[in-house]
Amino acid sequence: MSRKTTLFHACLCACLCAGLLAASSCSQGPQNSGKAIYLDESKPLEERIEDALSRMTLEEKVKILHAQSKFSSAGVPRLGIPELWCTDGPHGIRPEVLWDEWEQAGWTNDSCVAFPALTCLAATWSEEVSALYGKSIGEEARYREKDVLLGPGVNIYRTPLNGRNFEYMGEDPYLASKMVVPYIQEVQKNGVAACVKHYALNNQEALRHEYDAVVDDRTLNEIYLPAFKAAVQEGGAWSIMGSYNLYKGQHVCHNQWLLNDILKGEWGFDGAVISDWGGCHDSDEAIVGGLDLEFGTWTDGLTMGATSGYDSYHLADAYLERLRDGRASEEVLNDKVRRVLRLIFRTAMCQDKPFGSLCSPEHYAAARRIGNEGIVLLKNDCSVLPVKASAKKILVVGENAIKMMTVGGGSSSLKVQREVSPLEGIKAAAGEGVEVVYERGYVGDVSGDYNGVVTGQDLSEKRSAGKLIADACAQAADADIVIFVGGLNKASHQDCEDSDRFGLELPYAQDAVIEALAEVNPNLAVVIVSGNAVAMPWVNKVNAIVEAWYGGSESGNALADVLFGKVNPSGKLPFTFPARLEDNGAHALKAYDPHSRTANYSEGIFVGYRWAQKQGIKPLFAFGHGLSYTEFSYSDACAKRKSMSENGKLTVKTTVTNTGSVAGKEVVQLYISDRECSLERPVMELKGFKKIYLEPGQSKEVSFVIEPDMLKFYDPQLSGWKLEKGLFTAHIGSSSEDIRCSVNFEVK
Ligand code: GLC
Repeated sequence: MSRKTTLFHACLCACLCAGLLAASSCSQGPQNSGKAIYLDESKPLEERIEDALSRMTLEEKVKILHAQSKFSSAGVPRLGIPELWCTDGPHGIRPEVLWDEWEQAGWTNDSCVAFPALTCLAATWSEEVSALYGKSIGEEARYREKDVLLGPGVNIYRTPLNGRNFEYMGEDPYLASKMVVPYIQEVQKNGVAACVKHYALNNQEALRHEYDAVVDDRTLNEIYLPAFKAAVQEGGAWSIMGSYNLYKGQHVCHNQWLLNDILKGEWGFDGAVISDWGGCHDSDEAIVGGLDLEFGTWTDGLTMGATSGYDSYHLADAYLERLRDGRASEEVLNDKVRRVLRLIFRTAMCQDKPFGSLCSPEHYAAARRIGNEGIVLLKNDCSVLPVKASAKKILVVGENAIKMMTVGGGSSSLKVQREVSPLEGIKAAAGEGVEVVYERGYVGDVSGDYNGVVTGQDLSEKRSAGKLIADACAQAADADIVIFVGGLNKASHQDCEDSDRFGLELPYAQDAVIEALAEVNPNLAVVIVSGNAVAMPWVNKVNAIVEAWYGGSESGNALADVLFGKVNPSGKLPFTFPARLEDNGAHALKAYDPHSRTANYSEGIFVGYRWAQKQGIKPLFAFGHGLSYTEFSYSDACAKRKSMSENGKLTVKTTVTNTGSVAGKEVVQLYISDRECSLERPVMELKGFKKIYLEPGQSKEVSFVIEPDMLKFYDPQLSGWKLEKGLFTAHIGSSSEDIRCSVNFEVK
């Protein structure tokens, strides 16, 4: 029986029960036996919630606050209130697992479309694409009858070693704030709640359950909270996931400051706080610390789960006991219940939600488009790319050209209906009569199994590393172009949950392969498949470099579209590629320590390009950098006025022209410098961006309206945002290091 039928029967039974209640003095539920307002969708949501609350017994109230299985919580069957089903993850709908295990349930109808990882989405710098992403993944969640999508993630990229950066939206709070909102709004139009994670300060995987994040108020408010604040106040997120780490010595899944004071107090969040799986550690704290829905207790969030008897959860029997003996207040309980009921009414019990769809042509097209718009052309000297139509022999080298990347990486691992590899995409794109040869080049991670999902690939290899390089170079000698596809993968200590990388370097001695190929053939394009920055000691020996991210089901096609010029690349880096690890703030100050249970955010607000520019360090590739197969010129910036009052606005604009021979998209970026401030501020900060399409020769005027809020900084003395008068500069450019025009203005 599908969940829908169950739901219908439950509602029917609820109506009968409600009727019986009206007729009899059944002692089952509390006194309220009037008309079942909570079932009437025409009534205001809050009225329905109060009505349902008034009918629930103490036991029923507690029961809906914690898991009943690995990914579901109980409803109130007596009242026809359905259970709530959650699913990972941010890139696609996780295959069904057994009731109380992480292992696969072995369904045959739960394969999905894997959309590109969120770093790729962030790299599109397109709110329109973010909306397409949310719509598509929301439809897949709906079709699979899931009520809460455990994503998107927006933890700021503080260190290039964080194993989960691939699931997030980069180093800049403004970019992440803008890119997360459409995703949430479109997911929720399907009657599926987004569960924005991991709130907050989960910026590393090392000791993720134990480290206490020590961060000053200004850094917290300027860097680590904005994307979550936008998710709540602009995105209208219906749920938020508490993170594993601690803040001020308290686990964040039950944290007075982050959950009660900021999220629910200051920001007015009316949804439910869901713990990360195994993030709840204390009954008393869970009760008063702002947690509403407890999941995965006694698990490590990935594997162990044997002792997860649900009555032994902190918000289960332990809570009932405290309610009965008066240690816990019913008022706090009712607030939690209201939030969970609101979540259920918005999702599981919403009767006019769409049917959804799974693995539809539209979703594959969406996955491909997200990849097309997110792939970043980092370097393209001698116009190595796009592949010339005259090419007769294409050599593809590297394990990442064939290795499935939708399996692995932790909770975002998927069971896809299909995944087009880079090699398959390149073969499909190469014309008739073009020979595409493949060489392994190196051996990386030959496993192909995660949580019971197997790739079925046999990546075994008998040749030695030296032989692999020799064979690749032999084929490279007479190739018209060599495409090396390497980077990272989803294995532990690569781009993977629950572990960080050990260094910035490419693993598996890929540098040697790249250098050898560069020696043999200058027509070499290096494609990096990763969710993180990597070191490139060979950067001056390679003419073309592409960051392809994890592209999901359509990764090979999306990449080939760009390599063959069917799509003109328009992606821009959502985080800095430092030349060396020490060029990153947290590492320069030795503030990142994977062995310490205290994470000192000593670099403060100077994260990513904010650090590089403060120190005058030239990055390998800058935040906001991304090339095109065409060129764009910018006219001088101009501002209508040279000053603005404290409550005024100022418009700055420029005209962008496509001076090349092919159509393309450019992300025009606005950065603001505060030239006079009582506190040190970054050299400049991203405060606007617009992605525009231009035909060859076409020009478009791009303008940005600067408002006072954009100019404020967080003053810890005030515990609030402050605008100081004085001189500012608006910079408009193609990246944080490629400013094309600037204009000074004054705040009076
Ligand atoms: C994991 C992750 C979280 C995921 C949850 C359920 O440990 O931290 O992102 O949604 O548990 O799998």
